[in-house]
Amino acid sequence: MEFTLRRATPDDLDAIMGLESSTFGNDAWSTEMMSSELASTHTHYLFAFDPIEPAALAGYAGLLSPKGARDAEVQTIAVAPSARRLGLGRTLMTALMAAASARGARQLFLEVRADNPNARALYDSLGFEEIAVRKRYYKPDNVDAQVMRLVLPEPATLGETATLPEPAGGGSS
Ligand SMILES: CC(C)(COP(=O)(O)OP(=O)(O)OC[C@H]1O[C@@H](n2cnc3c(N)ncnc32)[C@H](O)[C@@H]1OP(=O)(O)O)[C@@H](O)C(=O)NCCC(=O)NCCS
Repeated sequence: MEFTLRRATPDDLDAIMGLESSTFGNDAWSTEMMSSELASTHTHYLFAFDPIEPAALAGYAGLLSPKGARDAEVQTIAVAPSARRLGLGRTLMTALMAAASARGARQLFLEVRADNPNARALYDSLGFEEIAVRKRYYKPDNVDAQVMRLVLPEPATLGETATLPEPAGGGSS
């Protein structure tokens, strides 16, 4: 199945929070935090959909990458259960890598729960390396956070990602 990516906007808050809450439970961000992320000029959020049903959120991912900063961070990524194992997680991550690179970042960081082997396998396959462990970081179950880093390739070598249209009505970055 082919998915399409577009820049997320503040209007996507309800759809994104629906998937965020059902996916992450206790670890989910609050509506206020997500609203602030979607409105920030320092972030780059993506909304993925099946072109047959463009209003339905198939997955999203967010990047914190202030322009000019050398370090960027993957803030979140989730794919709807019905859309998993179809390559969308990899597509979203590759698009965030390209966006971070285009914004001038040279390193991309993320944190993953130690009990999330599926996400860990995705990050390993993209070249992320574990650089630290934050012990008992995720509460209340005290699961470790694995901190991972990717040294970003030059923008020209991230060729497979398409240029995304800017969100209607302005938006971040
Ligand atoms: C992690 C997640 C985003 C992956 O999305 P996805 O669209 O299913 O991933 P893809 O189909 O692009 O798979 C990419 C790679 O991830 C790994 N992977 C993903 N799901 C996996 C699974 N169930 N079992 C084993 N490996 C898996 C594999 O390495 C896979 O590559 P392969 O298909 O060549 O084997 C998705 O499972 C998800 O939303 N999980 C819940 C939220 C979450 O954990 N987010 C990450 C927080 S750090």
